[in-house]
Amino acid sequence: MTPRETKPRSRGNTKNKPEKTWVAVEEYMDELLLSPDPALDAARKASAAAGLPDIAVTPSQGKFLHLLARMKGARYILEIGTLGGYSTIWLARALPADGRLITLEAEAKHCEVARANVARAGLSAQVDFRLGAALDLLPELAAEGLEPFDFVFIDADKENTAEYFAWAVRLTRLGAVIIVDNVVRDGEVADAGTSDERVQGIRRFLEMLAANPRVSAATLQTVGSKGYDGFTLTLVVA
Ligand code: SAH
Ligand code: DHB
Ligand code: MG
Repeated sequence: MTPRETKPRSRGNTKNKPEKTWVAVEEYMDELLLSPDPALDAARKASAAAGLPDIAVTPSQGKFLHLLARMKGARYILEIGTLGGYSTIWLARALPADGRLITLEAEAKHCEVARANVARAGLSAQVDFRLGAALDLLPELAAEGLEPFDFVFIDADKENTAEYFAWAVRLTRLGAVIIVDNVVRDGEVADAGTSDERVQGIRRFLEMLAANPRVSAATLQTVGSKGYDGFTLTLVVA
């Protein structure tokens, strides 16, 4: 990964100042631990060229998701929030040849860019793109009577995260992993009085999670080129 691809973004991290250190460490780690990756570089470039927002997971977060899915031995992955397919590529690469990933996206343009990016990465046969609002698509998925998912990545509109999580629990098997992105938001999540509806959505998800005896979860806070944020890792235990 060249420094150009890991340069700091303008969004996030307005409250805390060690961002330069976070980004320097991220660049150092990416240089050592990530291999040159033309398909992923091309996906980022094509997404930017098409005017998609620069909010995909970072390269190291993408690889982290990929490794988690591999550790899980995931065969059947659900992603909610495709954008340009950057996280999709990382996750689909964790699948065995007969594995499948279904990814849900509300914006036709995002879906189109993602399709091209995933095709360029040679993963089209394993990825099923569904265009529409996730809250419309999830009941359709349930009605299809597909095999239960063993890995879910929730990364769409934050206001509906609690509903997406409830669907994820319903659509997964015992032992499945569910990851929810962007749960810390510069620390805003700890402010019960926040006026940010996205953060209120995340708080509602966390309260639902805490009350569900079928799942066990931990949140990890993260820093780096996307600022200060975090994700929640959940295991379906019953
Ligand atoms: N997972 C991607 C980033 C997703 S950004 C990555 O890391 O590469 C969030 C995406 O969710 C955007 O593309 C947005 O259009 C989509 N989205 C927003 N609201 C949605 C909804 N109601 N249903 C499905 N997708 C939605
Ligand atoms: C936003 C959404 C994301 O999924 C993310 O990782 C970062 C930012 C956003 O909507 O601002
Ligand atoms: Mg995200």
